[in-house]
Amino acid sequence: MSLVQVNTEGGVYPIHIAAGRLNALAQSIPASTTAIAIVTNPTVDGLYGDQVRRALEESGKRVLTIMLPDGEEHKSWSTLNVIFDRLLAERLDRKALIVALGGGVIGDMAGFAAACFMRGVRFLQVPTTLLSQVDSSVGGKTAINHPLGKNMIGAFYQPVAVEIDTTVLNSLPGREISAGLAEVIKYGMIYDSQFFDWCGANMPALRQLNAPALAYAIQRSCEVKAEVVSQDERESGLRAILNFGHTFGHAIESGLGYGQWLHGEAVGCGMIMAAELSALVCGLPPAHVHAIRELVIASGCPSVPPAWSADKWLELMQVDKKTEGGQLRFVLLPHMGKAVVQTVEASAVREVLRRFESSTQE
Ligand code: NAD
Ligand code: GLY
Repeated sequence: MSLVQVNTEGGVYPIHIAAGRLNALAQSIPASTTAIAIVTNPTVDGLYGDQVRRALEESGKRVLTIMLPDGEEHKSWSTLNVIFDRLLAERLDRKALIVALGGGVIGDMAGFAAACFMRGVRFLQVPTTLLSQVDSSVGGKTAINHPLGKNMIGAFYQPVAVEIDTTVLNSLPGREISAGLAEVIKYGMIYDSQFFDWCGANMPALRQLNAPALAYAIQRSCEVKAEVVSQDERESGLRAILNFGHTFGHAIESGLGYGQWLHGEAVGCGMIMAAELSALVCGLPPAHVHAIRELVIASGCPSVPPAWSADKWLELMQVDKKTEGGQLRFVLLPHMGKAVVQTVEASAVREVLRRFESSTQE
């Protein structure tokens, strides 16, 4: 088993990574827990619900399951209320534990519910997609979407632990694996150029779910994310680098309607666009732009952005949380393995969008 530690003011907690970790979940239940509420969806429940309930019941606590509809389009106020309604109806108290069993949608919603219920109860992240194992379950960002913007309503709220069972990835569709790989390669681009090269050499093995390769990719991703959030939990500076490619990516997601492209797919394509912008405004060498494009394509993510006018792109990107005083700010790469956040003139963004025009699709 690998262990990665997260050290934030909001909580110090372990990330355990191992094949078969679902069977050991009782070890992560705080002794004072009065009841356990698993928050999940029918897809994940059908695959792993019984195994997780059995493992949690070993703690001797009452275990109940709260079922949410599956999909990004349900990451909303009304779905959040399903959790609160049930927690209250079942009379759970301040010593209850919420277990988020699922991908990033479940993790973000269950975490936000934990942050709000009785002003905060403990929660455990049990991420079951690659994207949630390498990114969303670590670092305490929780949220729901608003029709005017993604993840706009939320809280920083750290889990008591993150329990990663690598074997659950065997049931994940290939498209979801590719979306998770986009976030894996992101860590190489923004923080660790050697890891970027390792990903390039091991991409076929990763896409074929080679167990040692996946375990290393998950561990290294969690290490980088833990290092970043341990320095800047609330994104007052450094943490924003984790959003490389996300300004373009979030525009793609909200412009097409949540759920058309997967989050990781939009980020993958967004990283290609952000690499082009980096070349234009802070000198990322063309060979690195090329390498980023090739690795995104090798991961199986789309590389051709939607064919929108520059005005539409700029309007969609205004909703980004990094925007300050109406000025767009982007995560950029001066060179591979190093990221900075800076304000970018709209004219530079327009120039990059123009370069993509010949390759865009409706
Ligand atoms: P998801 O949660 O929608 O899961 C993708 C699909 O896979 C769903 O249909 C789900 O039911 C299914 N699934 C989950 N585990 C499975 C398994 N083991 N086998 C088969 N199917 C399985 O999507 P996601 O990519 O995990 O997460 C995306 C969400 O994460 C977005 O809402 C995004 O905003 C959020 N996110 C949050 C952070 C953060 O820091 N909090 C970071 C990145 C992304
Ligand atoms: N996924 C971006 C962050 O956690 O900050």
